[in-house]
Amino acid sequence: MKIILKSILMLILLTGVYNCKGQNATKETSSEFYTYRSGDPNGIGKWYKGREIAHVMGYQGMSWLERSEREEEENTSKLLKNMNIQPGDTIADIGAGSGYHVFKMAPMVDDGQIYAVDIQPEMLAAMEVKKKKGASKNVILVQGSEKSVNLPENSVDKVLLVDVYHEFNYPLEMIQSIKKAMRPDAELYLIEYRGEDASVPIKELHKMTESQAVKEMKAAGLKLKQNINNLPWQHCMVFIKD
Ligand SMILES: C[S@@+](CC[C@H](N)C(=O)[O-])C[C@H]1O[C@@H](n2cnc3c(N)ncnc32)[C@H](O)[C@@H]1O
Repeated sequence: MKIILKSILMLILLTGVYNCKGQNATKETSSEFYTYRSGDPNGIGKWYKGREIAHVMGYQGMSWLERSEREEEENTSKLLKNMNIQPGDTIADIGAGSGYHVFKMAPMVDDGQIYAVDIQPEMLAAMEVKKKKGASKNVILVQGSEKSVNLPENSVDKVLLVDVYHEFNYPLEMIQSIKKAMRPDAELYLIEYRGEDASVPIKELHKMTESQAVKEMKAAGLKLKQNINNLPWQHCMVFIKD
């Protein structure tokens, strides 16, 4: 009963949050990689490799990212253990939002660095407040764009993408940009709600299957190292340079 009530609440919350159209796809009618046709109301009508891209979550939904039940639902502690974070690591959290993961990782890297990248200035402003409050000197806030993470080349050991890839308006360009920022042995952690699992109470466009993710990463020159199957609702897919 508790689980059913929680699932209903989650669906109601997501309806509000994702209807906040933070960004819209740049108006084009066709391109080399993308096609355009109307589809799901939660999508932007732009398709990549058979998948419709979802609306960007507006900053108005920030409190959903900080919800108290998130640890129980997503087991973020286990996700961070999966990443084998070491002191000295440089980690980029792309689409960092309110910094839910950023400020958990910052003490773990010690004298390393966390690049917290987001496209919405309101998200960066919220992280700036947290950064000042916690005196987190090793957190570097970066304004990204639709096509670039704006990070130095060959600069990061690990990349974290939680619940964001499916809403990139330019997924190919974004992964190419991320790949440039990755050091040769760097790992990209792609965390997406499992599209294969109908019991995960999230809208279809905000989920991904492993096979779809592998197809899209391959197009940008990354290959699957492993999918760590130990999170309640999400894939924890580790990609490396091909
Ligand atoms: C659903 S939120 C997830 C936030 C965070 N990863 C978390 O799990 O708490 C997605 C975030 O990705 C950001 N985003 C979307 N497209 C982006 C892009 N091209 N570059 C950087 N951030 C982007 C949005 O602004 C939003 O803050």
